[in-house]
Amino acid sequence: MSIHIKSSADLETMHRANGIVLDILCRLKEQIAPGITTEDLDRMAEEWTGKAGALPAFKGYRRYPATLCASVNEVIVHGIPGPRELKEGDIIGLDMGVILDGYYGDSAMTVPVGSISLEARRLLEATEKSLALGIEQVKIGNRISDIGHAVESFVTPKGYAVVRDFTGHGIGRALHEDPQIPNYGDPGRGPRITEGMVLAIEPMVCVGSADWILAEDQWTASTADGSLAAHFERSVAVTPKGPWILGESAPVGRI
Ligand code: MF3
Ligand code: CO
Repeated sequence: MSIHIKSSADLETMHRANGIVLDILCRLKEQIAPGITTEDLDRMAEEWTGKAGALPAFKGYRRYPATLCASVNEVIVHGIPGPRELKEGDIIGLDMGVILDGYYGDSAMTVPVGSISLEARRLLEATEKSLALGIEQVKIGNRISDIGHAVESFVTPKGYAVVRDFTGHGIGRALHEDPQIPNYGDPGRGPRITEGMVLAIEPMVCVGSADWILAEDQWTASTADGSLAAHFERSVAVTPKGPWILGESAPVGRI
C-alpha cells in the first residue's frame, strides 16, 4: 500500500476540482423535480463539467458509461442514468467526479424529490450526519478506522446498516488511491492519518439489510430487500488546522 501525500499546490488544484463538483451537484439538486429523468441530469452534468474546463471522471472509468451516478431509492450506488422519470417521494443519490489539471474531485449527495416520507428524511439526515462525524475524525495522529467507526457507531443504533463491500478511498492523480476507508470497524486500526493525505469519505447507509445485488448492467448496486439507501461523499484533505472539505473554505483553526 502506498498513500500519496499532496503538496499545498496539489491541494489547491483538488480544491478547485471539488469546487466544480459541489457546484454542479448543487445545481443538479435545483433541477430535481417529478418528471425529470436521470439521463436529463446526466446531460446537464456533462455540459456543466465541460463549461467549467474539467473532464468527467467516471465516464470511461472501467467502462462506466456516464458522467453522473444517479441512484434512486433502493439503489445504493452506481445507478446508470437512463429514461427513468423521478417521482414525488423518491430520493436520488447524485455522485460525480471530475478531472481538473490532472487531479480528481469526487463528491456525492442524496436529495429528496418533492416531499418525502419521514423514513426517507430520517435516513438522509442520519447518513449526512454520519459523513460529518467521519470527517471530524480526519485529524493528524488518528487512524483510518476511526472514520468508519464514527460512521457505524452513529447509524447502527438507529437500526440502519452500513454497506461493507464499498468503501471510501484516497484520491489525487487517480480516482481511487490507497487507503481504502471502510464505513465500519473498530477504532485505532489501519494507517495513521498524516498531513497532506486526501481522503474521499463516503458512507452508504440502508434502512433495512445492507445485503445488495448487482444489476445486469454490472454497475447498479441495489439493496437486496428493496429498502431505501442513501450515500454522501466528500473529498477531505488532512491539514494541521483540521479537516479541509475540498471545494469548501479551508479551516481557520483555533485562535
Ligand atoms: N464515488 C464513487 C467512487 O468513488 C463513484 C465511482 S463511479 C465509477 O467509487 F464509475 F467511476 F466507477
Ligand atoms: Co468516491
